[in-house]
Amino acid sequence: MKKTFYVTTPIYYPNDVLHLGHAYTTIAADVLARWHRLKGDDVFFLTGTDEHGKKIETVAKSKGKKPKQFVDELVLKIKKDWEKLNLTYDRFIRTTDKDHEKVVQEILKIVYKKGDISLGEYEGFYCVACEAYYTEKDLENGNCPVHKKKVELLKEESYFFRLSKYQKKLLELYKKEKNFILPDFRKKEIINRVEEGLKDLSISRKSFDWGIPLPFDKKHITYVWFDALTNYYSATRKKGKEKFWPADLHLVGKEILWFHSVIWPAMLLSAGIKLPKTIFAHGWWTIDGEKISKTTGNVINIPELIEIAGLDSARYFLLREIPFGSDGDFSKKLLIERHNSELADKLGNLVSRVSALAEKYGIQKTENNLLKKFKTKEIEKHIENYEFDKALNEIFAFIDSCNFYVQTKKPWETHDKKVLYELVDSIRKINYYISPFMPETSEKIDKIFKTNKIKKAEPLFRKIEVKT
Ligand code: MSP
Repeated sequence: MKKTFYVTTPIYYPNDVLHLGHAYTTIAADVLARWHRLKGDDVFFLTGTDEHGKKIETVAKSKGKKPKQFVDELVLKIKKDWEKLNLTYDRFIRTTDKDHEKVVQEILKIVYKKGDISLGEYEGFYCVACEAYYTEKDLENGNCPVHKKKVELLKEESYFFRLSKYQKKLLELYKKEKNFILPDFRKKEIINRVEEGLKDLSISRKSFDWGIPLPFDKKHITYVWFDALTNYYSATRKKGKEKFWPADLHLVGKEILWFHSVIWPAMLLSAGIKLPKTIFAHGWWTIDGEKISKTTGNVINIPELIEIAGLDSARYFLLREIPFGSDGDFSKKLLIERHNSELADKLGNLVSRVSALAEKYGIQKTENNLLKKFKTKEIEKHIENYEFDKALNEIFAFIDSCNFYVQTKKPWETHDKKVLYELVDSIRKINYYISPFMPETSEKIDKIFKTNKIKKAEPLFRKIEVKT
């Protein structure tokens, strides 16, 4: 039987069109999904939208729309953007999908029966933008630490999930399953916080109604995170998809690691469902040194991202520029510089020179000694360890070796068909490894080199002037 690989992105809030930050997680998931398909694994790649809750209800109201109508319109836009990014997801799950809603209620019933849910009163702070509860200690000058916005003071009847009961089990889990939370420095942060103690979590609200009613008390609406986290599991309850649970990898941004590495496993432990294997938290992008923010207008949306230097250059840049897991700064200038000096000058140049020479002089099969310089095992290890920057670095080190080989062997003087074969064969191997990162470019390269009657290629990347 084929090995399965199940990767997920967070499900995004459809309260506005998505931007570079959301594209980042989804592109990384796409690279991994494509990589595992290339290796012959049976892949399930899930993305989608988190549609319930106060945040969506409030924005919809402000636009004079019913929540469902509002999210329906945005989902269409998000799907169009995802298409532009050439993403190969297998399902786009929406928390308003009936099959998902059913599974959320089913889990709530199990957890309730187990005695892990009880009625109480919540008094404290709530940030609608995060859809999260905060204590006074968490706040920064009375504001939410993530959005720096005013928080609501709540006091209402609510059902609580006994998160505190799972503190010990969670700590044991982090210790035993070394890759449950990655990267390691993030795992340490989570362990420290969990060691400080866990408070029971308010998982229902009565003051609004855009969400899933609790099956045992219909006056209460399920807390949006309890609903949303379940998506990863509910997607595998469809016929034929059961084999994908437990998920291999939940990719998330660092700001929502707590929900994924503490609340989600506690919910699953309570419901008696197997736990996902890895939760990887990546860092945050700023743009030109500033936080991405709709309010200040410092945003790059998906069409803008693609327009800078083309889709594959954007995909390449996002994964090449910073180690996955670290924060980074995005600028159009840096993207264009990498596009020019790495994609056009190195990869593009190699492909156009070799294809032109191969057309002119032909190729003759021989042992490929040049290939010995290609560190494919290292590249594979890097991809499996989520070190995309290092993987791309290695691939480009070999592209440098190939360009150097052309330069020193001078096939335009020697007309050496064997040297040209080595180069063509090397490009074919390079293409295998770049295909998950730059699928369009890879298709073009494949068309040129899949036959032995090679024709001179059109330039893969046109240089762009850097405007300062
Ligand atoms: N709906 C929740 C997730 C529920 S998952 C069960 C949510 N949605 S979101 O629309 O706010 O998207 C959050 C995700 O977007 C982050 O986890 C991160 O992947 C990505 N990013 C948003 N801004 C980002 C940056 N500036 N930089 C990098 N990624 C960022 O949270």
